[in-house]
Amino acid sequence: MTTRLKIDRGRYIGALGAGVICDNIPGLVNKQRQLCQRHPDVMQSIGRGSREWIQECQHQFSHHRWNCSTVDRDHTVFGRVVLRSSREAAFVYAISSAGVVYAITRACSQGELKICSCDPHKRGRASDERGDFDWGGCSDNVNYGIKFAKAFVDARERAVRDARALMNLHNNRCGRMAVKRFMKLECKCHGVSGSCVLRTCWLAMADFRKTGDYLRRKYNSAVEVTMNQDGTGFAVADRGLRRPTKNDLVYVEDSPDYCLRDKAAGSLGTSGRVCSKSSSGTEGCEVMCCGRGYDTTRVRRVTKCECKFKWCCAVECRDCEETVDVHTCKAPRHANWLDQT
Ligand SMILES: *[C@@H]1O[C@H](CO)[C@@H](O)[C@H](O)[C@H]1NC(C)=O
Repeated sequence: MTTRLKIDRGRYIGALGAGVICDNIPGLVNKQRQLCQRHPDVMQSIGRGSREWIQECQHQFSHHRWNCSTVDRDHTVFGRVVLRSSREAAFVYAISSAGVVYAITRACSQGELKICSCDPHKRGRASDERGDFDWGGCSDNVNYGIKFAKAFVDARERAVRDARALMNLHNNRCGRMAVKRFMKLECKCHGVSGSCVLRTCWLAMADFRKTGDYLRRKYNSAVEVTMNQDGTGFAVADRGLRRPTKNDLVYVEDSPDYCLRDKAAGSLGTSGRVCSKSSSGTEGCEVMCCGRGYDTTRVRRVTKCECKFKWCCAVECRDCEETVDVHTCKAPRHANWLDQT
């Protein structure tokens, strides 16, 4: 992905100058370019962080026809996703916004950025359900991450006012807030033999997986909307549906089935995808291959087996070879599917 590479090359920012870096990231709107030029170090963190949220997206959808790789290949990190305004686009906007918050916040705590550091408001005494404690150490400054992510990521949607922009802004916010939702208080006990009469605590972000799992659930329950008549907000697309809350993902267009390759719809198709013969779920061959059938190949695999614990402290295993059947979806039979690539 060119964008990522170019941001990574920002490591040489000193030699190249922020102007060159920022001019070489495709798809930035003016406001984003300005932010980039003012804060090239933040841009580096965002770029490095993009690998993580793309991986998380692919993890969440590894057993689905849509597996998040359109994002990997065609998406310019901050550009409009080719997924139009589907449920999948809603997820990508949310998780990428969350990823930007996460990356910036972490960089702040690690002292990598000029403009931020640990949360300066977490000072003095406070209390939780277990009693009083002193703020200490480094609390992750998630509010700063949220603020910057909002300014930077949302800038793209501020240029236009249509249903899609409204949808993106809404989902971006969901993603940003998801990170904050999983902040946790971590503490160290002091006092006589760990009696914990004195505690020092700090707020820390949870593993990004928590945010990924949460947004994945939000994807499942996403609500289809249309724009209301004055263009200021959403109306539910179908009278029977519930109204979305601030924390629901929303989308305006139905998704394709992702069975066939259709670049315009952001679908790579499922031919060649590995599927599970025994499952009737989304990873099962019937669903994954859209009824086209699958090929089976026999492969040899080396695994660790007969592992023994050796005193002390090692585990010794033997290498065992096993043969397993790997099933992969057949390509569509019609010759014209090639035309769509
Ligand atoms: C996702 O699916 C596409 C198309 O079927 C495949 O080429 C790609 O390797 C898959 N990506 C991941 C991360 O599994």
